[in-house]
Amino acid sequence: MLPDKNWAVVSGAGRGIGRAIALALAKEGIGVLLLARSENQLREVSELIQKDGGSAEILPMDLSRTLEIENAISFFSNYAGKIDLLVHNAGIARVGSFAEMNVEDWQVVQDVNVRAPFLLTQKLLPLMAKSSQIIFINSVAGKQSFAGWGAYCASKAALKSLADTLRAEVQSQGIRVTSIYPAAVDTPLQDTIPYDWDRTKMMRAEDVARAVIYCTRQPRNVNINEIDLANSAGTF
Ligand SMILES: NC(=O)c1ccc[n+]([C@@H]2O[C@H](COP(=O)([O-])OP(=O)(O)OC[C@H]3O[C@@H](n4cnc5c(N)ncnc54)[C@H](OP(=O)(O)O)[C@@H]3O)[C@@H](O)[C@H]2O)c1
Repeated sequence: MLPDKNWAVVSGAGRGIGRAIALALAKEGIGVLLLARSENQLREVSELIQKDGGSAEILPMDLSRTLEIENAISFFSNYAGKIDLLVHNAGIARVGSFAEMNVEDWQVVQDVNVRAPFLLTQKLLPLMAKSSQIIFINSVAGKQSFAGWGAYCASKAALKSLADTLRAEVQSQGIRVTSIYPAAVDTPLQDTIPYDWDRTKMMRAEDVARAVIYCTRQPRNVNINEIDLANSAGTF
């Protein structure tokens, strides 16, 4: 086990918003445990952090698989001993109307966006330190519905309920739970959806990371329940 240090688990840390969160946390002196499937992307983030004097460890894994989550928990337990911050960031989007959406695509969105955060939280709770924090990277789609986005909106609305329920359940243990609801952010996720939006007008991944850091800097008696992050130009 490592010397006493604050440790954060960040899911989907290989690119986009998760990468920015991991780099920002490391700059705060927090050790980061990086999860995603693409080992090369995780390694690149980890090397950047270590080059800057920070601590990072990678765990290439598919969060939609129960066994891989269970294996990660025993790694965290042996490696860090306790977790101070859990950031549920990994997420995917599949778009299509009710008429178009196939059930396999529907299911994979629910598996990654809702089932994985549920299972990871459930298994990690025994390792969460007193006054630790759990942050869910939700989306404007968790509060607002858009035509063609049924699978994604349903997953993010469920994630909102999950986080709100969790907050009510763990507050007596001093564990704080926050949901962040960003509007559109210019990340590689935009390459996976069939829209030709002007990405220069979107927020940056670092804008979301700054909100995460803001939460981590609050005193232990303060829980930020929600942050809505909108583009000041109001474009998305
Ligand atoms: N971009 C936006 O406009 C926007 C707006 C609001 C909210 N969000 C939310 O922000 C979060 C991050 O989105 P992003 O835009 O940064 O997306 P992204 O650039 O596509 O990155 C997603 C990350 O999640 C990981 N991931 C996906 N499926 C996984 C799986 N089965 N197991 C493990 N890791 C998995 C990816 O790594 P691998 O593919 O290598 O596994 C990647 O590291 C998501 O929850 C998204 O819904 C995004």
